[in-house]
Amino acid sequence: MHNFDEIVLAASAAFAATDDPDALEQIKATFLGRNGRVTELLKGLAKLPPDERKTAGAAINRSKDAVEAALNARREALRRMALAARLAEEALDVTLPGRGQARGGLHPVTRTLERIEGLFRSIGFDVADGPEIEADFQNFTALNTPADHPARSMHDTFYLQDTAGGVAEGVLLRTHTSPIQVRYMQAHVARYADREQMPEIRVIAPGRVYRVDSDATHSPMFHQVEGLWIGEKVSLADLKGVIGDFLRRFFESDDLQVRFRPSFFPFTEPSAEIDMAFMDGALKGRWLEIAGCGMVHPNVLRHVNIDPEQYIGFAFGMGPDRLTMLRYGVNDLRLFYDGDLRFLRQFV
Ligand code: FA5
Ligand code: MG
Repeated sequence: MHNFDEIVLAASAAFAATDDPDALEQIKATFLGRNGRVTELLKGLAKLPPDERKTAGAAINRSKDAVEAALNARREALRRMALAARLAEEALDVTLPGRGQARGGLHPVTRTLERIEGLFRSIGFDVADGPEIEADFQNFTALNTPADHPARSMHDTFYLQDTAGGVAEGVLLRTHTSPIQVRYMQAHVARYADREQMPEIRVIAPGRVYRVDSDATHSPMFHQVEGLWIGEKVSLADLKGVIGDFLRRFFESDDLQVRFRPSFFPFTEPSAEIDMAFMDGALKGRWLEIAGCGMVHPNVLRHVNIDPEQYIGFAFGMGPDRLTMLRYGVNDLRLFYDGDLRFLRQFV
């Protein structure tokens, strides 16, 4: 009897001595395997006198059950230890600050452009665009600004190199969005060529433009939004109405003044610069030019085969970068393009 208890104790101690599940299975073999100690005892039964076999057999089986129970308990304990170790290793520290996803945001000038588009769409204007590398014809010639016209010098600009390293003839980075007027009118005329009566043209065209300019209110790359309304009875009064209403809606304020200052553009006659100032707040009384405008010159209409005897209209080219300055009270327009996130994040 004592022999059997000793085996159970020895097995339990051997199982407890290892933390390794594979080693545990090896140890199991030394007790329960084909030549294991428990198996040897069972084999020894045959040598006992018949009257002792029954009690000895029952005792050995109890020992075997006890060894198996100890084995299973150790297996289960090792499984739980492994799980606990894994959980500890993979633990999430929910108190750590998250890495997060940096949230992008729209550039303040993009916001202005979207706002302008929304407001003009609401009064029935289409939104068009055109190429930034523009043909000399659309940028100047069709706008009544022939090659020798002095007004070209106000648009000192960026020309392009051809593959031989010379100046590419006939193309340039557009200096204003006015060439989109030309393109839009050309497409409109072609589209309604077989109609007796062409529908009105009402369009704005936002986009990037380029000039050799740099100071607090001028950036070498900036934006303009062109506007064009051509019909049979469109007048300067309509221009003033559209611009005034637009500005009041854009700034959500009636506390602003707008003035039309006589000016010159080859493609409009008469022409004006549009200035505005707030009547209140930090920028009170500071006039800023926000657009050029005028009644479309008959020569421009002729260039795109629209009869100036039948059609008349206005155009404007506005500076959304400047509108953004005014809207947010920014005093140097170049800040918008320095790419400093500390500045830009304020608008998100
Ligand atoms: C023009 O470019 C004309 N094409 C506008 C026009 C269109 C007149 C249609 C008549 C009919 P101007 O050079 O004034 O005009 O520019 C228009 C506006 O663009 C200016 O009032 C100003 O708000 C903005 N602007 C001009 N240059 C810069 C610059 N370097 N940086 C930022 N904004 C500018
Ligand atoms: Mg101007």
